[in-house]
Amino acid sequence: MLYSEKVMDHFQNPRNVGKIEDADGVGEVGNAKCGDIMKIYIKVENDIIVDVKFNTFGCGSAIASSSMATEMIKGKPVAEALDITNKAVVEALDGLPPQKVHCSVLAEEAIKAAIEDYYSRNGK
Ligand code: FES
Repeated sequence: MLYSEKVMDHFQNPRNVGKIEDADGVGEVGNAKCGDIMKIYIKVENDIIVDVKFNTFGCGSAIASSSMATEMIKGKPVAEALDITNKAVVEALDGLPPQKVHCSVLAEEAIKAAIEDYYSRNGK
């Protein structure tokens, strides 16, 4: 099978889809080659990511990656979430086909962009 059960599950039932109106950080990234776009919103309290939502206009692997990545950083300290790598996301999904690894990179980049936005809003 090309896609793991976890990828299929997160693609078909993505967690944390949506938008946070009063987000503390927003990150939007795109991949120029495939044209897919990912937007991640974080809500932070006492340096903990208390809520996170995403919107992905992209392929199934990008949706599964953002779903998994948001689950992985929810409830974590901001500094810890910053360490998330696309490799960790791929591992948590039980793998992605090689030509789909860039979709998980998008998730890593979107999270980092949201955290950078949070830091810059707070003068860090
Ligand atoms: Fe580009 Fe998946 S094909 S993010």
